[in-house]
Amino acid sequence: MERLTIRRPDDWHLHLRDGDMLRLVAPESRDFGRAVIMPNLVPPVATGDDARAYRDRIVAAGFARPLMTLYLTEGTDPADLVRAHAEGVIHAVKLYPAGATTNSASGVRDIEAVRPVLAAMEEAGVPLCLHGEVTEASVDIFDREAAFLDRVLTPLRAAHPGLKLTLEHVTTKDAVEWVRAHPGVGATITAQHLASNRNDMLAGGMRPHFYCLPILKRRTHQEALRAAATSGPGSFFLGTDSAPHPLHAKEAGCCAAGCFTAPHALPLYAQVFEEEDALDRMEAFAALNGPAHYGLAPNEDTVTLVRGEPAAWPERIAGHGHQVTLFDPGWPLRWRVEAREG
Ligand code: NCD
Ligand code: ZN
Ligand code: ZN
Repeated sequence: MERLTIRRPDDWHLHLRDGDMLRLVAPESRDFGRAVIMPNLVPPVATGDDARAYRDRIVAAGFARPLMTLYLTEGTDPADLVRAHAEGVIHAVKLYPAGATTNSASGVRDIEAVRPVLAAMEEAGVPLCLHGEVTEASVDIFDREAAFLDRVLTPLRAAHPGLKLTLEHVTTKDAVEWVRAHPGVGATITAQHLASNRNDMLAGGMRPHFYCLPILKRRTHQEALRAAATSGPGSFFLGTDSAPHPLHAKEAGCCAAGCFTAPHALPLYAQVFEEEDALDRMEAFAALNGPAHYGLAPNEDTVTLVRGEPAAWPERIAGHGHQVTLFDPGWPLRWRVEAREG
């Protein structure tokens, strides 16, 4: 197949940051219709008013259809949250275990502290998105997602069976199996976790632009993610987790976690689907499963991807005082977005 026309995809997990970085990266998600915007700013997007103001800044910066999230803290006011959802200001709430990832210091330390908020969300039908890793120093970084399933997610699901859950950026076979065993729970998968495994990050030199959280796992997990993403209609859908950091924060003695993929996420995913001989199932993953999970209509317009001669990935984008390096999987770029039809 040399051309692929699918309904316009949405990005169900995106970081746009704020200020000059927002102005630089917001236009780079042009291939996507809607995007779920992560609230991990400093300070976080914690109230309905914060979300409303951030939404306006995003639209002004050039991304037209943000779906906002609230950052769940131990001080979240359930009434403010439920009102923001009822008024259409927020799409979902995001739970970061405190210390799990970039800008998660304001997150949840003790799940009991947010129990009343979770009960209010369950009652009002507000979806909960989760960064699924435990934070205990004693747990190996490669095991933190699997440990989260047993220690946090299974009890959470049992205590709040009516709460709509999305496990973000799944990275392990364990998470894929957990999601398959729990119908109604959704899961996003990034392009970098489909394209790469920890060898790409660590063998022959340490490559900071492959470093994100949850960390890339071994190849067997990558294969399980590829099987899940290409499985057609169901619980798995596209969330780039495109997470821009300034060049100096990535190429540093202590490198920030996050891969910037937004400008070329669709070509990356398309290459993976081609390798899996599953281009006919890319539309389900990229444009249908996410809306179905959230009870929204898929986009009416389409994008067309074209397979062409291998080319180098653009190295970085720059502007507004920032430079951001694009994720490069280490193989040539073959697909490009030819047309966006409105
Ligand atoms: C994200 C970021 O930079 O905000 N980083 C990452 O490695 N994925 C945070 C997150 O999604 O966990
Ligand atoms: Zn995360
Ligand atoms: Zn993220």
